Amino acid sequence: MLKSVILAAGKGTRMKSETPKVLHTIFDKTLVGYVIEAVNGTGLADENFVIVGHQAERVEEYIKENYSNARTVLQSPQLGTGHAVSMVLPYLNDFDGEVVILCGDTPLITADTLKEFVEYHKANKSDLTVMSTIFENPTNYGRIIRGDNGKVEGIVEEKDATLEQKGIKEVNAGIYCLDWKKVKPAFSQLKTNNAQGEYYLTDIIKWGNEQGLNVNAYILKDNSEIYGINSKANLAEATKFLNRRTVNKHLANGVTIIDPDSTWISPETEIEPDTIIYPSTYIEGNNKIGKNCKIGPFAHLRGGVILDDEVKIGNFVEVKKAHIKSNTNACHLTYIGDAEIGSHVNIGAGTITANYNPLTKEKSKTIIGNNVKIGSNSVLVAPVKVEEGANVGALSVITKDLPSWALAITRAPLRVIENWVSKKLNK
Ligand code: UD1
Ligand code: MG
Repeated sequence: MLKSVILAAGKGTRMKSETPKVLHTIFDKTLVGYVIEAVNGTGLADENFVIVGHQAERVEEYIKENYSNARTVLQSPQLGTGHAVSMVLPYLNDFDGEVVILCGDTPLITADTLKEFVEYHKANKSDLTVMSTIFENPTNYGRIIRGDNGKVEGIVEEKDATLEQKGIKEVNAGIYCLDWKKVKPAFSQLKTNNAQGEYYLTDIIKWGNEQGLNVNAYILKDNSEIYGINSKANLAEATKFLNRRTVNKHLANGVTIIDPDSTWISPETEIEPDTIIYPSTYIEGNNKIGKNCKIGPFAHLRGGVILDDEVKIGNFVEVKKAHIKSNTNACHLTYIGDAEIGSHVNIGAGTITANYNPLTKEKSKTIIGNNVKIGSNSVLVAPVKVEEGANVGALSVITKDLPSWALAITRAPLRVIENWVSKKLNK
């Protein structure tokens, strides 16, 4: 089993935020969370070290609460990427195996790529493999220096590069696989004689070559996978990349998505074929959507939603933590939260499950049986149960459980006053 080291001590000044950079989110998951889950998704790593520095306590707390196979290591002060990795030396003194190094601010890296990268490292009997990729505009990245024979000789940072080196389009993706025992000594030999006065992790490439180690580069085809987040603009762009990847996956699986550009689907959402997603739909969190459902336009699923087959969630309908069984419709202007809804139920326009009591701050459940019909503009005040087949008249407020096949109605009686208008107008 290998170990990973995830660098996350940097400040992230350009985010202009009080939140540490790696705790910013895409679809509610943190940037560092994506990286840890990509590593875990390979099934190859048993332990992840996250190097923390700026606002270390917040990142430490987050990691502890969310990832049991990750631990944080403090780097203070932050003297560069090479210095950051050296923080794990005391923990991996006797470790004999591969260490994969990644950055906490590149959330789009996939488990499949990491797996292929480690396989490449092993197949080439490499001691040190760096991931590279090609950018038409390589500004700000470290450039890969190759010898005449194509062999990787080193990495030169933008700030240290000559004009000629700046023209190189193959860049350092910032992901490395090391034979730990062989490369470990490098970390006590790094120097700071560079433009930034830092301990550069990238110097291990040249060091490895000097030691006669087998040094290689794995070229990543899809350079969007190493897209780094330095600003809110980058965060928006990364969300788009990730969404496009998710939408494409569903399209390939047979889901109809009318307008990929205005449809947002979290990576954790599962959707069965022949479901249609209409434009301007926003789906976040963990959801399971069955076959032949119709979602949107302008629908919002907020996570914990299970839709069985042939469910319709129409415009301006928000659903959260709810299981809705087959052939049930909520077509317009509705909020469904903390609910279990049977099949063949009709939820009229403007229906609200009032699940939250702001005084006690408690949330409660609404349970609706099969074949129930809820009239328009009704409020179901949870906790409440509407048994099979019951009907709720339009504009009703339901505050107690309804038995099967009953009608409940709280509407004031209708008064019709004949000629009222004409009298007012003296006609
Ligand atoms: C680094 C690489 C560059 C590569 C690029 C890819 C070096 C010297 N350069 O440059 O070749 O093309 O990544 O994105 O490694 N960090 C720490 N502690 C530190 C400094 C940095 O944990 O003391 C973390 C940062 O939080 C960040 C990562 O390391 O997550 C990379 O640091 P950053 O300053 O962004 O390096 P780049 O200049 O992007
Ligand atoms: Mg960077």
